[in-house]
Amino acid sequence: MPQQLTDRFGRTVNYVRLSVTDRCDFRCVYCMAEDMTFLPRQQVLTLEEIARIARNFVSLGTEKIRLTGGEPMVRKDILELVREIGTYGLRDFAMTTNGSQLTTMAEPLRKAGLHRLNISLDSLDADKFRSITRTGKLSQVLDGIDAAREAGFRGIKLNTVVMKGRNDEEIPELIEFARRKQVDISFIEEMPLGNISEHDRGLALCTSDEVRTAIRDHHELVPATEDSGGPARYYRMPDSPIRVGFISPHSHNFCATCNRVRVTVEGRLLLCLGNEHSVDLRRVLRANPVTDDKLRQTIINAMDLKPERHDFSTNGDVQILRFMNMTGG
Ligand code: GTP
Ligand code: 5AD
Ligand code: SF4
Repeated sequence: MPQQLTDRFGRTVNYVRLSVTDRCDFRCVYCMAEDMTFLPRQQVLTLEEIARIARNFVSLGTEKIRLTGGEPMVRKDILELVREIGTYGLRDFAMTTNGSQLTTMAEPLRKAGLHRLNISLDSLDADKFRSITRTGKLSQVLDGIDAAREAGFRGIKLNTVVMKGRNDEEIPELIEFARRKQVDISFIEEMPLGNISEHDRGLALCTSDEVRTAIRDHHELVPATEDSGGPARYYRMPDSPIRVGFISPHSHNFCATCNRVRVTVEGRLLLCLGNEHSVDLRRVLRANPVTDDKLRQTIINAMDLKPERHDFSTNGDVQILRFMNMTGG
């Protein structure tokens, strides 16, 4: 039995979200400012460093790894990394993507050993999609979703951040789309990460209760009995195999069962999405000599810094200055 990572509140940490880049080909209004500056290359972990961190987490009981960004596929060596981590025998190996490159990348990713994909989709209207993502092209992402289905992933989930006045009217259409494509869909309450001056979050927040109400006019929602093991609360519809998830950091705190930590592309081990508690793994990795024992001990010690819960406000105030693209969600 491999060692387990446990924090001060008795939570077992067996899920790691690795951000492989802060860059992205989109500029979603809730994630980035329009004129983002990105990290210089030397601050970014190399593929070998990311793989080394992943391998050591696995030796400490990690069963699930999700690659995030920015957009993971803008990193050129991403397939190599997926191929390497794919050999670690994970129970679950997933990626969160904006879907822009899936027409060419879905099949290679699946063949490289990735199990599941979460794809962001905030609108089915080309103009609205463009105004939310600022640079994205809807048709490319829709083709990408089809390519992912054809590639035979174990699971595909759509992620929709719901914002009043931007896409809240589209909830029924998004549900119909997910039903037709037979993929799960999660509706997310926006979180206040990064100070984005052009975007007023206080006005935009649409709660999961409001989304559920909009769906119930069209479909019966029955709470799913299985444990999601994550922040989403899932429901099913009697006449469809798909699940509808609600991620509600504002209206339903899920921190008591938190099982995850994050590593940013600068090698900062973040103990919670909604706090700044962190440990610098890059410094350990670039020390001379570096040993896996030292890296593992640093990770084990870091668990003591994991806070009990996040504390996002609902009025859009930013408590966390770090942008979402630095964190990977
Ligand atoms: P699976 O459960 O593996 O399908 O993934 P997920 O839904 O946790 O991951 P995904 O990357 O698709 O993220 C969906 C949303 O959940 C994003 O908005 C994330 O920021 C949010 N999220 C994921 N983990 C946490 C967490 O620990 N705390 C908070 N507050 N939000 C989270
Ligand atoms: N609040 C909630 N979700 C966000 N995402 C990006 N920024 C935010 C935010 N501020 C979502 C993306 C993607 C996932 C990684 O996080 O839509 O699906
Ligand atoms: Fe890129 Fe995802 Fe951020 Fe949108 S939410 S800008 S797709 S990293």
